[in-house]
Amino acid sequence: MNIPKVIIPTYYENGEGALSVIEQYKQLPFSIKRIYYIYQVPEGVKRGGHAHKKLQQLLFCPYGEIEIILNDGKEKDSVILNSPSTGILVTNTLWREMVWKKENSVLCVAASEEYNEDDYIRDYEGFLDFVKAEKRKENLL
Ligand code: TYD
Repeated sequence: MNIPKVIIPTYYENGEGALSVIEQYKQLPFSIKRIYYIYQVPEGVKRGGHAHKKLQQLLFCPYGEIEIILNDGKEKDSVILNSPSTGILVTNTLWREMVWKKENSVLCVAASEEYNEDDYIRDYEGFLDFVKAEKRKENLL
């Protein structure tokens, strides 16, 4: 599976730390409507377990280590996020799970839409049906 990586430009100051910056039209194919972050998650916990109808997201882990497991209905793949200067783009029709590999890891998300519970697909069979329906639509175009 192709999981698009996003390089987040990072500027290292001589002995004074680093600064990373994301600009919506430079690093992202969407404009950012919402930013959220998930933290204080104990090591070993798995979160997620859903897909989205519309939402596009940039995920990155500026501190710690988090495994992102993605499933497009056919294939499953995973990527480790553990750098403030590399993120991944996660499109709507991917079932996602996130596993906290280290305590105190922080998952940051820049999202293309405001929060809308109706955009979530939280049951796996419903997700497979949604993927099939999207494929059928694409084939009709
Ligand atoms: P959820 O997206 O299910 O978290 P995860 O995928 O990490 O398991 O969100 C957890 C809860 O937080 C859910 O009940 C809805 C709420 N929530 C908001 O109210 N606004 C938001 O922007 C997000 C992302 C979640």
